[in-house]
Amino acid sequence: AVKSVTCVAPVNIAVIKYWGKTDEKLIIPLNDSLSGTLHTDHMCAKTTVAISSKFSKDRMWLNGTEESLDNPRLLACISEVKDRARSAGKLTEEELQWNVHICSENNFPTAAGLASSAAGYACLVYALAMLYKIDGDVSVIARRGSGSACRSIYGGFVQWIAGTNPNGTDSIAQQIVPASHWPEMRVLILVVSDSRKKTSSTSGMQRSCENSELLKHRVAKCVPERMSEITKAILKKDFETFAKITMQDSNQFHAVCLDTYPPCVYMNDVSHGIANLIHTINKFAGRTVAAYTYDAGPNACLYLLEKDVPGVLAAVNHVFHTDTKKEEYYRGLSVDLVDVPEQLGGTKNLGQWPENNALRYIIHTKIGEGPQIVSET
Ligand code: DP6
Repeated sequence: AVKSVTCVAPVNIAVIKYWGKTDEKLIIPLNDSLSGTLHTDHMCAKTTVAISSKFSKDRMWLNGTEESLDNPRLLACISEVKDRARSAGKLTEEELQWNVHICSENNFPTAAGLASSAAGYACLVYALAMLYKIDGDVSVIARRGSGSACRSIYGGFVQWIAGTNPNGTDSIAQQIVPASHWPEMRVLILVVSDSRKKTSSTSGMQRSCENSELLKHRVAKCVPERMSEITKAILKKDFETFAKITMQDSNQFHAVCLDTYPPCVYMNDVSHGIANLIHTINKFAGRTVAAYTYDAGPNACLYLLEKDVPGVLAAVNHVFHTDTKKEEYYRGLSVDLVDVPEQLGGTKNLGQWPENNALRYIIHTKIGEGPQIVSET
């Protein structure tokens, strides 16, 4: 017999960034963080996990290629699920001994350089949890795969509480509001062409912990205040405050990266150009139309309300060109393209921008639910 479960799990984009650990092995963060979970229709990881008495060893395939399971984070996830499965007692001891096959893929272009470890580990842990029929929170297990993965276990807006327990049992993700709370919220991911090799989040944050003084100030003073302010803004659907804190936190995170020695440089000229454009639009509009945020790479993620998507897309398309075919350029929710609205500055007022402003894709999506079961045998 074979038992199998297939799940999808979402990507999440932090508005209060996680950067730094107090425990490398257990992946316990220095600070609380907060993110929006993206809809799985447009970007997700999809994982099938299967167990059978016929499987001679554990095996794993990622996007069609067999990979070794010899990775401490992956092994920690599998063994934590099995420990919980043993105490849940829904499978026989024999079934718990069966080898596992894991098959995982992403439905978004990996060439686009979008972080996939959060969705990937959330999906793996969720699928295993369903297969082994364990109850209770599993974000604490997904965290062992990649810190940010714990937030992809829940939909809507989600916080990851750093916790105080040295063994990490209280370092868990919690939903603040479901996706239905703020249905007008939209997300545009502007995928920037870039081929430079970047420092991974894991080693970048390690280096920041070693020598950034700014990181200490951020953790002690800024993050706690921002967590409470942005949570209130989300509960009240106060976009203005939400957007300002999101941009400030992204900027401070990248300032910490530059304060690290040697510095971690993630944003490039196009990334800075996009941030500049958003401030220009917001100034012309006399209100906050959109917020940008950047992770450990050059791609911009914009949070904005549904009514402003056509105008912001028009401004982005006016300033940044693409060398990709139009059909490949837009992915996700459809939108009628318009000229740059006068309220956002109009075509003539947006000014001069540097050459070589190439974008590869724009993914248009929204806030969505947590992981879901697709099929089960
Ligand atoms: C900049 O979760 O990728 O995206 O825990 O070492 O796997 P590890 O790091 P990872 O770091 C993500 C950092 C970030 C900010 C965030 O998502 O909060």
